[in-house]
Amino acid sequence: MRTRVAVVGGGTSSEHDVSLSSAAAVADALDPTAYDVVRLSIGRDGTWREREGRPVGLAGAVHALRSCDVVLPVVHGPHGEDGTLAALCDLAGVAYVGSGVGAGAIAMDKWVTKLVAGAVGVTTTPGVLLSAATASTYTWTHPVVVKPVAAGSSHGVALVREAGDLQAALDAALVLDDRVLVEDVVVGREIDLAVLGRPDGSHIVAPALEIVCDGLFDAGTKYDGSADFRIPAALSPVDLKALEDAAVAVYDAVGCRGVARVDFFLTAAGPVLNEVNTMPGFTQQSQVPKMFAAAGTSYADLLDLLVRDALAGAC
Ligand SMILES: Nc1ncnc2c1ncn2[C@@H]1O[C@H](COP(=O)(O)OP(=O)(O)O)[C@@H](O)[C@H]1O
Ligand SMILES: [Mg+2]
Repeated sequence: MRTRVAVVGGGTSSEHDVSLSSAAAVADALDPTAYDVVRLSIGRDGTWREREGRPVGLAGAVHALRSCDVVLPVVHGPHGEDGTLAALCDLAGVAYVGSGVGAGAIAMDKWVTKLVAGAVGVTTTPGVLLSAATASTYTWTHPVVVKPVAAGSSHGVALVREAGDLQAALDAALVLDDRVLVEDVVVGREIDLAVLGRPDGSHIVAPALEIVCDGLFDAGTKYDGSADFRIPAALSPVDLKALEDAAVAVYDAVGCRGVARVDFFLTAAGPVLNEVNTMPGFTQQSQVPKMFAAAGTSYADLLDLLVRDALAGAC
Protein backbone atom coordinates (compact mmCIF):
# COMPACT_ATOMS: atom_id res chain seq x y z
CA MET A 1 0.00 0.00 0.00
CA ARG A 2 1.30 3.45 -0.85
CA THR A 3 2.08 5.92 1.90
CA ARG A 4 0.17 9.19 1.73
CA VAL A 5 2.50 12.14 2.37
CA ALA A 6 1.56 15.80 2.73
CA VAL A 7 4.29 18.12 1.48
CA VAL A 8 3.88 21.65 2.81
CA GLY A 9 5.72 24.65 1.36
CA GLY A 10 5.59 28.42 1.32
CA GLY A 11 4.88 30.20 4.57
CA THR A 12 4.65 33.75 5.80
CA SER A 13 8.37 34.33 6.38
CA SER A 14 10.85 36.07 4.12
CA GLU A 15 11.92 32.60 2.96
CA HIS A 16 8.56 31.93 1.26
CA ASP A 17 9.96 31.51 -2.27
CA VAL A 18 12.90 29.41 -1.15
CA SER A 19 10.49 27.12 0.66
CA LEU A 20 8.24 26.78 -2.40
CA SER A 21 11.29 25.67 -4.41
CA SER A 22 12.30 23.16 -1.74
CA ALA A 23 8.76 21.80 -1.37
CA ALA A 24 8.21 21.43 -5.13
CA ALA A 25 11.51 19.59 -5.51
CA VAL A 26 10.67 17.29 -2.58
CA ALA A 27 7.17 16.53 -3.87
CA ASP A 28 8.51 15.79 -7.36
CA ALA A 29 11.21 13.49 -6.07
CA LEU A 30 9.11 11.26 -3.81
CA ASP A 31 8.90 7.86 -5.50
CA PRO A 32 5.40 7.65 -7.07
CA THR A 33 5.36 3.87 -6.72
CA ALA A 34 5.69 4.25 -2.93
CA TYR A 35 3.99 7.55 -2.17
CA ASP A 36 0.79 9.46 -2.85
CA VAL A 37 1.74 13.10 -2.50
CA VAL A 38 -0.67 15.76 -1.26
CA ARG A 39 0.75 19.21 -1.99
CA LEU A 40 -0.23 22.03 0.31
CA SER A 41 1.08 25.57 0.40
CA ILE A 42 0.88 28.46 2.80
CA GLY A 43 0.67 31.91 1.20
CA ARG A 44 2.59 34.97 2.33
CA ASP A 45 -0.64 36.05 3.99
CA GLY A 46 -1.02 32.71 5.76
CA THR A 47 -3.69 31.28 3.45
CA TRP A 48 -3.45 27.51 3.07
CA ARG A 49 -4.04 26.24 -0.44
CA GLU A 50 -4.22 22.84 -2.06
CA ARG A 51 -2.33 22.04 -5.22
CA GLU A 52 -4.82 23.65 -7.58
CA GLY A 53 -4.48 26.88 -5.65
CA ARG A 54 -7.89 26.67 -4.01
CA PRO A 55 -7.88 28.21 -0.49
CA VAL A 56 -8.82 25.53 2.02
CA GLY A 57 -8.70 27.44 5.31
CA LEU A 58 -6.94 26.19 8.41
CA ALA A 59 -9.64 23.63 9.16
CA GLY A 60 -9.40 22.34 5.60
CA ALA A 61 -5.62 22.15 5.90
CA VAL A 62 -5.85 20.17 9.14
CA HIS A 63 -8.36 17.87 7.46
CA ALA A 64 -5.94 17.34 4.55
CA LEU A 65 -3.02 16.73 6.91
CA ARG A 66 -5.05 14.20 8.89
CA SER A 67 -5.90 12.34 5.69
CA CYS A 68 -2.17 11.59 5.34
CA ASP A 69 0.08 9.05 7.02
CA VAL A 70 2.87 11.55 7.46
CA VAL A 71 3.62 15.21 6.85
CA LEU A 72 6.81 16.56 5.29
CA PRO A 73 6.90 20.20 6.40
CA VAL A 74 9.27 22.06 4.08
CA VAL A 75 8.62 25.56 5.40
CA HIS A 76 11.75 27.51 6.31
CA GLY A 77 11.94 30.28 8.86
CA PRO A 78 9.46 31.70 11.39
CA HIS A 79 5.93 30.21 11.37
CA GLY A 80 7.23 26.97 9.92
CA GLU A 81 10.68 25.76 10.86
CA ASP A 82 10.37 27.37 14.30
CA GLY A 83 8.13 24.57 15.59
CA THR A 84 4.86 26.09 14.48
CA LEU A 85 4.13 23.44 11.86
CA ALA A 86 5.35 20.70 14.16
CA ALA A 87 2.86 21.95 16.75
CA LEU A 88 0.04 21.85 14.22
CA CYS A 89 0.92 18.26 13.31
CA ASP A 90 1.18 17.31 16.99
CA LEU A 91 -2.25 18.76 17.69
CA ALA A 92 -3.67 17.10 14.58
CA GLY A 93 -2.15 13.78 15.66
CA VAL A 94 -0.20 13.24 12.42
CA ALA A 95 3.37 11.96 12.19
CA TYR A 96 5.82 14.39 10.60
CA VAL A 97 9.36 14.51 9.33
CA GLY A 98 11.92 16.53 11.24
CA SER A 99 12.29 18.32 14.52
CA GLY A 100 9.56 18.77 17.07
CA VAL A 101 8.24 21.97 18.59
CA GLY A 102 11.03 22.55 21.12
CA ALA A 103 13.97 21.89 18.82
CA GLY A 104 12.46 23.98 16.03
CA ALA A 105 11.92 26.90 18.39
CA ILE A 106 15.39 26.66 19.92
CA ALA A 107 17.22 26.41 16.60
CA MET A 108 15.20 29.26 15.08
CA ASP A 109 16.43 31.49 17.89
CA LYS A 110 20.09 32.19 17.26
CA TRP A 111 20.54 33.59 20.77
CA VAL A 112 19.09 30.55 22.55
CA THR A 113 21.09 28.29 20.25
CA LYS A 114 24.27 29.95 21.54
CA LEU A 115 23.24 29.26 25.12
CA VAL A 116 22.42 25.60 24.44
CA ALA A 117 25.59 25.00 22.40
CA GLY A 118 27.71 26.74 25.01
CA ALA A 119 26.23 24.49 27.69
CA VAL A 120 27.59 21.40 25.90
CA GLY A 121 31.00 22.95 25.33
CA VAL A 122 30.60 24.06 21.73
CA THR A 123 32.04 27.50 21.02
CA THR A 124 29.75 30.03 19.34
CA THR A 125 30.28 33.47 17.89
CA PRO A 126 30.46 36.11 20.63
CA GLY A 127 27.40 38.29 20.27
CA VAL A 128 25.29 40.96 21.94
CA LEU A 129 21.50 40.83 21.97
CA LEU A 130 19.69 44.09 21.19
CA SER A 131 16.13 45.26 20.64
CA ALA A 132 14.69 48.47 19.24
CA ALA A 133 14.62 49.80 22.79
CA THR A 134 18.28 48.98 23.57
CA ALA A 135 19.94 49.38 20.14
CA SER A 136 21.03 52.95 20.88
CA THR A 137 23.06 51.76 23.89
CA TYR A 138 25.44 49.79 21.66
CA THR A 139 28.80 51.40 21.02
CA TRP A 140 30.55 50.27 17.85
CA THR A 141 34.26 49.55 18.40
CA HIS A 142 35.13 47.00 15.71
CA PRO A 143 33.61 45.37 12.58
CA VAL A 144 30.54 43.27 13.39
CA VAL A 145 27.89 41.14 11.74
CA VAL A 146 24.33 42.30 12.43
CA LYS A 147 21.50 39.78 12.04
CA PRO A 148 17.92 39.15 13.16
CA VAL A 149 17.69 36.56 15.95
CA ALA A 150 15.18 34.56 13.91
CA ALA A 151 15.30 34.73 10.13
CA GLY A 152 17.08 32.87 7.37
CA SER A 153 18.44 32.92 3.82
CA SER A 154 20.78 35.72 5.01
CA HIS A 155 17.84 38.14 5.05
CA GLY A 156 18.73 41.10 7.25
CA VAL A 157 22.34 39.90 7.74
CA ALA A 158 24.95 42.62 7.21
CA LEU A 159 28.66 43.06 7.74
CA VAL A 160 29.25 46.47 9.31
CA ARG A 161 32.79 47.73 8.73
CA GLU A 162 32.23 51.32 9.84
CA ALA A 163 30.36 52.88 12.75
CA GLY A 164 28.33 55.02 10.35
CA ASP A 165 26.75 51.91 8.79
CA LEU A 166 25.58 50.38 12.05
CA GLN A 167 22.21 52.10 12.42
CA ALA A 168 21.04 51.14 8.92
CA ALA A 169 22.04 47.52 9.55
CA LEU A 170 20.21 47.45 12.89
CA ASP A 171 17.12 49.00 11.33
CA ALA A 172 17.12 46.45 8.50
CA ALA A 173 17.46 43.53 10.92
CA LEU A 174 14.76 44.96 13.20
CA VAL A 175 12.32 44.89 10.30
CA LEU A 176 12.53 41.10 10.36
CA ASP A 177 12.61 40.50 14.11
CA ASP A 178 12.22 42.50 17.29
CA ARG A 179 15.52 41.10 18.56
CA VAL A 180 18.85 41.49 16.82
CA LEU A 181 22.31 40.01 17.32
CA VAL A 182 25.50 41.97 16.88
CA GLU A 183 28.28 39.43 16.51
CA ASP A 184 32.05 39.62 16.22
CA VAL A 185 33.23 38.83 12.71
CA VAL A 186 34.54 35.29 12.71
CA VAL A 187 37.53 34.60 10.53
CA GLY A 188 37.44 31.03 9.37
CA ARG A 189 36.31 28.57 6.72
CA GLU A 190 32.56 28.07 6.47
CA ILE A 191 31.78 24.37 6.97
CA ASP A 192 28.31 22.80 7.11
CA LEU A 193 27.53 19.41 8.64
CA ALA A 194 24.35 17.45 7.98
CA VAL A 195 23.27 15.26 10.88
CA LEU A 196 20.48 12.72 10.46
CA GLY A 197 19.23 11.19 13.70
CA ARG A 198 17.70 7.72 13.47
CA PRO A 199 14.81 6.50 15.64
CA ASP A 200 17.24 4.22 17.55
CA GLY A 201 19.26 7.26 18.66
CA SER A 202 22.16 6.72 16.26
CA HIS A 203 23.30 9.42 13.83
CA ILE A 204 24.40 9.56 10.24
CA VAL A 205 26.73 12.46 9.53
CA ALA A 206 27.10 13.20 5.82
CA PRO A 207 30.41 14.33 4.32
CA ALA A 208 31.19 17.89 5.40
CA LEU A 209 30.60 20.73 2.95
CA GLU A 210 32.72 23.86 2.61
CA ILE A 211 31.20 27.03 1.22
CA VAL A 212 33.80 29.01 -0.66
CA CYS A 213 32.63 32.53 -1.40
CA ASP A 214 33.89 36.06 -1.26
CA GLY A 215 32.67 37.73 1.93
CA LEU A 216 29.32 36.85 3.52
CA PHE A 217 27.34 33.91 2.19
CA ASP A 218 24.54 36.36 1.38
CA ALA A 219 21.10 35.96 -0.17
CA GLY A 220 22.40 36.64 -3.69
CA THR A 221 25.20 34.11 -3.46
CA LYS A 222 22.87 31.53 -1.92
CA TYR A 223 20.48 31.39 -4.84
CA ASP A 224 22.28 32.67 -7.94
CA GLY A 225 24.23 29.44 -8.31
CA SER A 226 27.59 31.15 -7.79
CA ALA A 227 28.33 29.55 -4.42
CA ASP A 228 31.15 27.08 -4.63
CA PHE A 229 30.34 24.03 -2.51
CA ARG A 230 33.23 21.65 -1.87
CA ILE A 231 32.17 18.14 -0.82
CA PRO A 232 33.82 16.57 0.98
CA ALA A 233 35.50 19.62 2.48
CA ALA A 234 39.26 19.20 2.60
CA LEU A 235 39.76 18.72 6.34
CA SER A 236 42.36 17.08 8.52
CA PRO A 237 41.08 14.05 10.45
CA VAL A 238 41.39 16.07 13.66
CA ASP A 239 39.33 19.01 12.35
CA LEU A 240 36.74 16.69 10.81
CA LYS A 241 36.27 14.80 14.07
CA ALA A 242 36.01 18.06 16.04
CA LEU A 243 33.35 19.34 13.64
CA GLU A 244 31.39 16.07 13.58
CA ASP A 245 31.48 15.71 17.37
CA ALA A 246 30.35 19.32 17.82
CA ALA A 247 27.57 18.90 15.24
CA VAL A 248 26.18 15.78 16.90
CA ALA A 249 26.49 17.33 20.38
CA VAL A 250 24.54 20.40 19.28
CA TYR A 251 21.96 18.31 17.38
CA ASP A 252 21.30 16.27 20.51
CA ALA A 253 21.38 19.20 22.93
CA VAL A 254 18.85 21.11 20.85
CA GLY A 255 16.79 17.90 20.60
CA CYS A 256 16.62 17.72 16.82
CA ARG A 257 14.92 14.93 14.87
CA GLY A 258 15.27 13.94 11.25
CA VAL A 259 17.92 15.90 9.44
CA ALA A 260 19.43 19.19 10.60
CA ARG A 261 22.20 21.26 9.07
CA VAL A 262 24.67 22.48 11.64
CA ASP A 263 26.79 25.34 10.30
CA PHE A 264 30.26 26.19 11.59
CA PHE A 265 33.20 28.41 11.00
CA LEU A 266 36.43 26.48 11.25
CA THR A 267 38.87 28.87 12.90
CA ALA A 268 42.49 28.53 13.97
CA ALA A 269 41.10 27.73 17.45
CA GLY A 270 38.72 25.03 16.18
CA PRO A 271 35.01 24.91 15.25
CA VAL A 272 32.78 27.88 16.08
CA LEU A 273 29.05 27.21 15.70
CA ASN A 274 27.16 29.72 13.55
CA GLU A 275 23.65 28.27 13.50
CA VAL A 276 21.42 25.19 13.35
CA ASN A 277 18.80 24.77 10.60
CA THR A 278 16.11 22.21 11.42
CA MET A 279 14.49 22.65 8.00
CA PRO A 280 17.41 23.48 5.74
CA GLY A 281 17.10 24.25 2.04
CA PHE A 282 15.96 21.08 0.34
CA THR A 283 16.15 21.45 -3.39
CA GLN A 284 18.40 18.94 -5.09
CA GLN A 285 21.03 21.70 -5.37
CA SER A 286 20.86 22.59 -1.68
CA GLN A 287 23.64 21.69 0.72
CA VAL A 288 22.01 18.78 2.59
CA PRO A 289 20.87 16.76 -0.45
CA LYS A 290 24.29 17.36 -2.03
CA MET A 291 26.10 16.18 1.10
CA PHE A 292 24.09 12.95 1.20
CA ALA A 293 24.52 12.46 -2.54
CA ALA A 294 28.28 12.61 -1.98
CA ALA A 295 27.85 9.71 0.44
CA GLY A 296 25.93 7.72 -2.18
CA THR A 297 22.43 8.46 -0.87
CA SER A 298 20.29 9.83 -3.67
CA TYR A 299 17.80 12.64 -3.15
CA ALA A 300 14.83 10.24 -3.43
CA ASP A 301 16.48 7.77 -1.04
CA LEU A 302 17.17 10.52 1.50
CA LEU A 303 13.52 11.58 1.44
CA ASP A 304 12.44 7.96 1.70
CA LEU A 305 14.67 7.46 4.76
CA LEU A 306 13.32 10.60 6.44
CA VAL A 307 9.69 9.60 5.84
CA ARG A 308 10.21 6.01 6.99
CA ASP A 309 12.04 7.17 10.12
CA ALA A 310 9.25 9.65 10.90
CA LEU A 311 6.68 6.85 10.63
CA ALA A 312 8.84 4.46 12.69
CA GLY A 313 9.50 7.11 15.34
CA ALA A 314 5.80 7.91 15.64
CA CYS A 315 4.80 4.31 16.38
N1 LIG B 1 29.69 36.31 13.03
C1 LIG B 1 29.93 36.13 11.73
N2 LIG B 1 31.18 36.29 11.21
C2 LIG B 1 31.44 36.15 9.89
N3 LIG B 1 30.50 35.85 8.98
C3 LIG B 1 29.24 35.66 9.42
C4 LIG B 1 28.87 35.77 10.81
N4 LIG B 1 27.56 35.53 10.94
C5 LIG B 1 27.10 35.26 9.71
N5 LIG B 1 28.09 35.34 8.78
C6 LIG B 1 27.95 35.13 7.33
O1 LIG B 1 26.61 35.48 6.95
C7 LIG B 1 25.92 34.32 6.44
C8 LIG B 1 24.46 34.34 6.89
O2 LIG B 1 24.40 34.38 8.32
P1 LIG B 1 23.55 33.34 9.15
O3 LIG B 1 23.72 33.65 10.59
O4 LIG B 1 23.91 31.96 8.71
O5 LIG B 1 22.07 33.70 8.73
P2 LIG B 1 20.92 32.85 8.00
O6 LIG B 1 20.14 32.19 9.08
O7 LIG B 1 20.13 33.88 7.30
O8 LIG B 1 21.59 31.85 7.09
C9 LIG B 1 26.73 33.14 6.94
O9 LIG B 1 26.56 32.02 6.09
C10 LIG B 1 28.15 33.70 6.91
O10 LIG B 1 28.67 33.70 5.59
MG1 LIG C 1 22.97 30.47 7.60
